Formats: sequence, structure tokens, C-alpha cells
Amino acid sequence: MKTVIVCRCEDITEKEIVDAIHAGYTDFEELRKNLRIGMGPCQGRVCIPLVKKILQRETGRKVEENPTVRPPVVPIPLGMLTKGWENEE
Ligand code: FES
Repeated sequence: MKTVIVCRCEDITEKEIVDAIHAGYTDFEELRKNLRIGMGPCQGRVCIPLVKKILQRETGRKVEENPTVRPPVVPIPLGMLTKGWENEE
């Protein structure tokens, strides 16, 4: 069987991911923390979308696209975040 490396930064193979899912790590965050997926230098830019597809394929469940909420990369005025909420009374 061909070895497919999914996370190149942490050297995690598809087989390791599938085995972890079948061992009960069916939640993306559990899987990520257990295997250190996405914790390499690229911070998961390469592997996270692939791992989500594998998780979806193996569990038959839809995996949320972006469960992690991160602050904006570029500073923005706070008013931009509340735009549209101003006149809701
Ligand atoms: S490829 Fe997985 S963290 Fe970079």
C-alpha cells in the first residue's frame, strides 16, 4: 500500500489519521491535538483541509469548514464589526 503523507510538517500519514478516527478520535479538534496535525510551521494551511476531507469520508459526517475563530489579521475599526446592528431596535 502506498504511504500518503497528509501533514508534511509533522510527518503524519493518511493511515495514521484513518487509524486514529477508527480508534475513536472522530472530532476534528481531538484528532488534531492527538496527532499534532496543523501544529507545524505552515500552521495547517496544507493539511487541515485534507484532514477534514478524510474525517468527513470516514465518519460520513459533515465537518465544519472553519471551527476556529481567529481575530482579524488586519486591524479594523470596531464600528465595522457592529455595522448593520446599529438600527435593529
Ligand atoms: S502540513 Fe500540517 S502543519 Fe504543515
